[in-house]
Amino acid sequence: MNAFDKIIGYSSIKRELMQISDTLKNRSAYEKLGVTAPRGLLLYGEPGVGKSLMASAVIEDSGLNTFTLRKDQPNGDFIKEIKAVFKKAAENAPAIVYLDDMDKFANEDEQHPDAEGYVTVQSCIDEAKDRAVFVLATANRLRCLPGSLLRAGRIGRKIKVNPPSGRDAEEIVAHYIKNKKFVGDVDVKAIAHLMDKRSCADLEMVINEAGLYAGYEKADRITMDHLIAAYMHTVMNVSAICSNLGTDLSVADENYRQVVYHEAGHAVISEVLCPDSVTFINVHNNGSGFGGSTDYFNDNSTTYLYWEKSRIIGALGGIAAIEQKFGALDVGGGCDLDIAFRNTKYLVTNDCVCGFHLHAGDCNDSDRLQSEQEQIVSCEVERYYRKAKEILSLNSEFLEKLAAALAKKTLLSATDVKKIREQCKIVSVAI
Ligand SMILES: Nc1ncnc2c1ncn2[C@@H]1O[C@H](COP(=O)(O)OP(=O)(O)OP(=O)(O)O)[C@@H](O)[C@H]1O
Ligand SMILES: [Mg+2]
Repeated sequence: MNAFDKIIGYSSIKRELMQISDTLKNRSAYEKLGVTAPRGLLLYGEPGVGKSLMASAVIEDSGLNTFTLRKDQPNGDFIKEIKAVFKKAAENAPAIVYLDDMDKFANEDEQHPDAEGYVTVQSCIDEAKDRAVFVLATANRLRCLPGSLLRAGRIGRKIKVNPPSGRDAEEIVAHYIKNKKFVGDVDVKAIAHLMDKRSCADLEMVINEAGLYAGYEKADRITMDHLIAAYMHTVMNVSAICSNLGTDLSVADENYRQVVYHEAGHAVISEVLCPDSVTFINVHNNGSGFGGSTDYFNDNSTTYLYWEKSRIIGALGGIAAIEQKFGALDVGGGCDLDIAFRNTKYLVTNDCVCGFHLHAGDCNDSDRLQSEQEQIVSCEVERYYRKAKEILSLNSEFLEKLAAALAKKTLLSATDVKKIREQCKIVSVAI
């Protein structure tokens, strides 16, 4: 097994790391070409995306002596430790100095690029210039680090590690469920969609947590429901998901019915306009009242403009469903309206969907332009709202079936939603 095999997915980053490791292992071959190997590499990105895992693969693959620095002591002692570690690395060269979480080296004032920790690292790198000392660093925030430290000749190479998405997320999910007892037809793609752009650490934790839920229930297999419940609990912080809220719509409390139809409204519009885009729908009681959420995944099968418009119409779907079903204004739809207005404003003033004259340029922000933009944005939101109502009334069978299933189960996975959609006659609408 290769040291890089423990990194699942991320094939292009892996390739780059392998090349860097090769320059460390075969220095002389590069020297014969008259070139110098890179002197340092920074892996940066959000917490839990695998930076330390990737750094450890480079260390293992290169087989070099490695001296690690993490800030775990007061500043004065830490500065001495930085110097001592670089000295030891130079004496044992070729070697790697591994600076894990380098942006914490200045945590007494994290925005300060001249913090003593960084200045010391920089001068130590310069002192070790003639020795085969490679600096491997990880950090969450690139902007906190001084540019001089990251220039060519110091930590000159930078790789951004993004949270996994698409195939990378699918491969990581498949890897984490491999040794767990999931139901036979577990949908790796659906899990990856649900967790799109969440960190690897989140993926690992949610999949494990789903197993714990199955264990509490004394079930012998982990299901998608356990997984979504674990996701809601650990990532979305909704803990009442496993309560026995579910009931028939006909006997449900009025507030509960409204929340159910609101969420079903969002989901129906999303599924009619972009089939298979809903990753889950849920209703819950968080102690202070009923709430719900519907989440989506963009598989990029539609154009940017179509997806953005469908998101706006979908955001208005909750309010539209309440008006259609109860003939009342949905007073809980403020956040949805914010999304609809914000996104419509972006389409109007940035993408110029209603004409270039509404473009918000650097030197074109007159009061007259702003008021014209505002008027057009509200007209557009009105138009999208009418679309939302049209879609719901043409697809009322889907709305009713989805609402009934949601009321009973409280949590519907992408697979549940798809099954219900396929039982209904779907009427598409141009937007
Ligand atoms: N590509 C991957 N394949 C499989 N597991 C991964 C991958 N990336 C990360 N993990 C797992 O996710 C967890 C977090 O990874 P890691 O500690 O490397 O993240 P990090 O980016 O260094 O986070 P932090 O910024 O908090 O230090 C670990 O358990 C690790 O094994
Ligand atoms: Mg780390």
